[in-house]
Amino acid sequence: MIIVKIGGSVLSDKRRRFHFREDTVRGIADEISKLYPREKFVIVHGGGSFGHPLAKEFRIRDGLIDRRSRTGFVLTHLAMLELTSKVIKCFLDKNIPAFPISSSSIFITKEGRIIRASLDIVKEALDREFVPVLFGDVSFDMSKGIEIVSGDEIILHLAREFRPKKVIFLMDVDGIYDRFPDGQLIRRLKAREIDSLVLEGSAGIDVTGGIKKKLEVAKDLVNYSEEVWFVNGLVRGRLSSAIRGDCVGTLVTR
Ligand code: IPE
Repeated sequence: MIIVKIGGSVLSDKRRRFHFREDTVRGIADEISKLYPREKFVIVHGGGSFGHPLAKEFRIRDGLIDRRSRTGFVLTHLAMLELTSKVIKCFLDKNIPAFPISSSSIFITKEGRIIRASLDIVKEALDREFVPVLFGDVSFDMSKGIEIVSGDEIILHLAREFRPKKVIFLMDVDGIYDRFPDGQLIRRLKAREIDSLVLEGSAGIDVTGGIKKKLEVAKDLVNYSEEVWFVNGLVRGRLSSAIRGDCVGTLVTR
């Protein structure tokens, strides 16, 4: 099995509300179609300019704070359903039976970390050769009432359960850089090197924000998957070459 995260910055230009990169997602679906159904895939996608603006506007991460919180919770979820429909249609066009599964219906979080999950539907879908598509979503949360469950948190949970041979993060840059911009792309990284990388506080890791969190996730992921890749999802062919194992990108291993 291969788990692919389509990052929000690949799905959409985050500066444009409700923006969707249809050609890019079709390209990704096309690359996957060359291997499906010989290879099993689980897709997880981010919120991009659909989920994030609403989550921010209604302060979902602050929890259940007022009456508007519930409305915001539903609206954020609806925006994610809209985004996932667009993703699914691109996959269907390439003859991949992608099936959307709402993370908010199968995960319960505490401070945004998954503490309960029911993956039966994911397993049944896989058994029948569907490609399950999960997404960063709102969640019912045991300490805050409501929260956001991120795509990365979902991937960690799925990897623990399914032990995929690869996890591939598609992003809008070529991989992890030692400094950003103008740094060098780090082609190979051992999980134990990640801490010193973060401690050196190289600009890239701070400037690109989400990367720091992703590296934390990668450190954990290598316990459940032999290869964790960070590759550019906006460049055609990179996903296929990460699957083959010869990609321009960053490979994190144990
Ligand atoms: C966020 O998911 C989901 C919502 C805001 C509802 P992610 O954290 O995985 O999204 P990206 O990849 O950063 O856009």
